[in-house]
Amino acid sequence: MTKPEAISQIEFLREEINRHNYLYYILDSPEISDAKYDRLMRELEGLEKLFPDLISPDSPTQRVGAPPLEEFGTLKHTIPMISLQNAFTEEDAIEFDAKVKRFLHTADDIEYVAEPKIDGLAIELVFEKGLFTAGSTRGDGEIGENVTQNLRTVKSIPLRLLKPKSGPIPERLEVRGEVYMRLSDFNKLNKRRMEAGEPLFANPRNASAGSIRQLDSNITASRPLDIFCYGVGIVEGLKLSTHWDTLETLKSFGFKINPLIRRCRNIDDALRYHREIEEKREALDYEIDGVVLKVNSLRLQEELGEISRSPRWAIAYKFPPRQETTRVVNIEVGVGRTGALTPVAIMEPVNVGGVTVSRATLHNQDEINRKDLRIGDTVVIQRAGDVIPEVVMVVKSKRTGHEQPYVMPDKCPSCGAYVVKDGIVWRCPNVTCPAQVKESIRHFTSKSGMDIEGLGYKHIEQMVDRELIEDPSAIYSLSISDILKLERFADKSARNIIAAIDKSRETTLPRLIYALGIRDVGEHTAKLLSNTFGTIDALKKAKYDDLIKIREIGPEVAKSILAFFAEERNLDLIDKILKGGVTYKIGKATKGGPLDGKSFVFTGTLKRFSRDEAEGVIESLGGRPTSSVSKKTDYVVAGEDAGSKLDKAKELGVKIITEKEFVTLTGLEI
Ligand code: IVH
Repeated sequence: MTKPEAISQIEFLREEINRHNYLYYILDSPEISDAKYDRLMRELEGLEKLFPDLISPDSPTQRVGAPPLEEFGTLKHTIPMISLQNAFTEEDAIEFDAKVKRFLHTADDIEYVAEPKIDGLAIELVFEKGLFTAGSTRGDGEIGENVTQNLRTVKSIPLRLLKPKSGPIPERLEVRGEVYMRLSDFNKLNKRRMEAGEPLFANPRNASAGSIRQLDSNITASRPLDIFCYGVGIVEGLKLSTHWDTLETLKSFGFKINPLIRRCRNIDDALRYHREIEEKREALDYEIDGVVLKVNSLRLQEELGEISRSPRWAIAYKFPPRQETTRVVNIEVGVGRTGALTPVAIMEPVNVGGVTVSRATLHNQDEINRKDLRIGDTVVIQRAGDVIPEVVMVVKSKRTGHEQPYVMPDKCPSCGAYVVKDGIVWRCPNVTCPAQVKESIRHFTSKSGMDIEGLGYKHIEQMVDRELIEDPSAIYSLSISDILKLERFADKSARNIIAAIDKSRETTLPRLIYALGIRDVGEHTAKLLSNTFGTIDALKKAKYDDLIKIREIGPEVAKSILAFFAEERNLDLIDKILKGGVTYKIGKATKGGPLDGKSFVFTGTLKRFSRDEAEGVIESLGGRPTSSVSKKTDYVVAGEDAGSKLDKAKELGVKIITEKEFVTLTGLEI
């Protein structure tokens, strides 16, 4: 076969295979047998082998795995992937609708799009000039893991957009959706794993997340993953006016959209939809945990905007949690990193909505008393979404008289120190308590903290028990011979741990702040502190008023931060960590920066910077890059070929500046 002949045959085969993929994976109505499909694939593979330079990234042969990665890279979401507020009752949903109307100053019906809320893994797909170029997990909402190669193996994700009947292919299109596993496929997968003696997945969501987060994409390719797309990030070169339009457009590009999605004229329609879907829930071959209601008009969405990292224009109206009954066989007490003692009910294992549950937190003694819970009691437990299982109530009618009332111990179960009662919380006051030390090291080394890969709780336990380490900073003085003293460590695995510890030395300020384990300071607060203070030293010196000025930090959190830095022991800990070789890039203290609080939107192409760079500049000067123009936008920076955002800015009277003016404004060029 000559090359020109091969080109045309390859093109023909790809089109055919793509068409059959679409019929099979998206429309669920195949036209040819699997054997016939396999023949087409084999012919294409054969030709691509003969003419390797004709292989293109969107060829259906490229859906197979690639060589394993050492680790995932990261990808920044152009528009953060924020999450939704929840509604649990009809009243909550009605109140949501009322709030929308109040905010928009209208009494008119609001049109909603109602969608099943798929219980899977949120991902983003990027298409440039129609070609799938990148895919990522949600991550922390701003930065996700680069799982492009794995997503390529998901057959219902198009590698190239279908040509729409009318209109252009967008320059850039970011599509968001939920990767999930069908229940039937999940059960088959677990059956195979059981036969092979492999550990089982607890539920389809874990199976999907575990499959997408595989460093070896061949493994992902072997897993039966599917996707429903439900939204977009940046869309360049397309005009959309409603969410419904968006979904229709995505459908026409070849994306899989959930067939149960419906347009609702008003909130009453949406409530009916919720009831209907709840009834259908058990019959579906995939897990859903509620419905999502979204204001249909994109203009209204924009006007509504966001509040505390959730859109005002959408809500997740959850189904009631699944409940089961079981028996409490014991109550154990755990000691957390801040010394808080938490009673945990140990129960006969029971399956709650697909997950086997055998432990549930009882929070504290007051909670046990309030519920009058005794060892031996039959209890109703529930699991709501990601929430740790909880005991809802005791079934008193099942009591036999042999149940044992429970009182928390007055000594710490780990170190034996007398417990101090701090309000409803009982605390072990001994800062050298092994349980607290282990928990604080676990927190310090965790993924969101110093991220020391391969160092598990079992290792930490042994290290503390053998007095190899006595606080988190001691991790940085461990040697290979120390690690070799632990059980089940050989030379190679010990070297790997040391390498992982070494790698963690180069970190970021938010990670370091989070890792310290300051009470009430989670990932988000750590980021706020990093942005505001820029260095650990500046944070150490922060006063109550400096902290409280930060929009999302309240008095309680501010006090926890001050209390942490008031302890000599904690200051020593920080010194030792830094002496252990930990470094971080100095963040910019953005508060009070020249662009403090100003919001920017870019449109068109910039000459001097990439979007990422320009956004970085804004952030470093205290400003906020945003994606869509509203009345609240301070500046629209218009590059070449500026599009609809420029029109919008003119319409709303938002200040428009050129790239050159932007450079002057930011002081990059004087
Ligand atoms: S919309 C700003 N629609 O639920 C709007 N989310 O907190 C963001 N999810 O992890 C999401 N099905 O991945 C939307 N039809 C649907 C969804 C959905 C599932 C997930 C989403 C996110 C969480 C929302």
